[in-house]
Amino acid sequence: MDLQLTILKTVDKYNEVDNTLECPELKSFDINSLHSNLTSLWSKELINFEKIETEHWELLPEAKDFLKNGSHEIRFLEEVIKSIDGLKLSDVNKLGPVGKLGQGKAFKNGWISKNDDKLISKVDKVPEDSVVKYLKEIEETGKLSDKKELTELKKRKLIQLNKIVGYKITKTDKFQVEIVNLETDITSDMIINNEWSDKKFKPYNFNSEGVYPSSGSLHPLNKVREEFRQIFFSMGFTEMPSNQYVDTGFWNFDTLYVPQQHPARDLQDTFYLKDPVRGDEPEDKEYMKNVQQVHQEGKYGSIGYRYPWKLEESLRMVLRTHTTAISASMLKQLADDPKPCRLFSIDRVFRNEAVDATHLAEFHQVEGVMAGYDITLGDLIGFMEDFFGKMGVNGLRFKAAYNPYTEPSMEIFAYHKTLKKWVEIGNSGMFRPEMLESMGLPKNLRVLGWGLSLERPTMIKYNVSNIRELLGHKVSLDFIETNPAARLDELLV
Ligand code: PHE
Repeated sequence: MDLQLTILKTVDKYNEVDNTLECPELKSFDINSLHSNLTSLWSKELINFEKIETEHWELLPEAKDFLKNGSHEIRFLEEVIKSIDGLKLSDVNKLGPVGKLGQGKAFKNGWISKNDDKLISKVDKVPEDSVVKYLKEIEETGKLSDKKELTELKKRKLIQLNKIVGYKITKTDKFQVEIVNLETDITSDMIINNEWSDKKFKPYNFNSEGVYPSSGSLHPLNKVREEFRQIFFSMGFTEMPSNQYVDTGFWNFDTLYVPQQHPARDLQDTFYLKDPVRGDEPEDKEYMKNVQQVHQEGKYGSIGYRYPWKLEESLRMVLRTHTTAISASMLKQLADDPKPCRLFSIDRVFRNEAVDATHLAEFHQVEGVMAGYDITLGDLIGFMEDFFGKMGVNGLRFKAAYNPYTEPSMEIFAYHKTLKKWVEIGNSGMFRPEMLESMGLPKNLRVLGWGLSLERPTMIKYNVSNIRELLGHKVSLDFIETNPAARLDELLV
């Protein structure tokens, strides 16, 4: 407040201030507090002000040393004069920077000459130290009238240019040397007591940017996840509960006829829990027995893998490696009341993979299963075309593949316009009869399923090439907060 009053008094005294830097009353104030107080007076409509930038030369540390001890060349000359019969060339280096830098300048100035292995002075007395003289002028005024010398000093790294800011201040027609506090809001009290008409109100500042509203922001993965959810809902799907990251190998592998010695079950591929090591047996013992039989000797038309199936292997706890573990237990529940249905889940899965630009040890899977009477591979192909078509991905290609739990199985490919090649976008298949029948589902209620990663389409949509920019501790918050609310995608692939 004091500073504001000082500003008003000063402006009143001179009628206007051309540059606060040259104004004795104002030049010593800190530039930031000057600016904020000027802004405040301006918002009260008492003054106008504008910024004036002035160039200002400043001395660098070596120049300050010159002011105290003289320039290198003068000090060098003094040394030469001191050594009565000349300074030995071999002694020059002993003088440090004075020798190294002063020698050249002293030569250039014609002060010294060389005589055999000695330097001798050509002048009888030390001339004026003009460098120091110029530096003093710069120290006092921030300027130097001799432009040639200025360039030379700059080249010698003795000075540097700085910009200093001052303000020009003028009066407005509402100028007065008094600070009235302006009201910012009209209150109900002011109206009731009829005070409002005497009050002075602060004018609206339409130039103000306002306060940026702080808000949470959705992670790109969550946005794309939501898009998938809406596609599923629009196609009549119900969401499966997917919050159980940990399950027994029984639901993650055995019900899906992944044999117990299958490489996918190795430690290198799957995370096993240390505590508890094992989980509960499935409730339906008959189902458990069926699963064991299919693995061991075959059932429901299957000849089995013909190996001794072990319950304790099946009960080992794993971090689920795919969301098909949930689909399996949901299909088992469906056997209580078998009917056509459509289910989906989008959630996290874990695989013990080496982390690189495109792989993490955890990612998200988008998974759908559809049960219908007598549905066929044709339905799967047609349905995939509809599903991916809703995301703008058309012209799919299918390639025969293998999953222990589906037959036939197909990888789904789409053409990537930017990469100009076919890329795999999903895996799918018709669940095997021995998997469904062992659960108690009727023979002709067939189930198709597919899965894809959520990360891959998100990386394409948000143009992220390294997965660690999308997931994990290296993700930049700025990327999350500033990516657009709406994307005008061409096509996903
Ligand atoms: N579980 C498969 C995967 O992880 C996806 C899939 C789901 C395939 C359902 C067929 C049926 O890739």
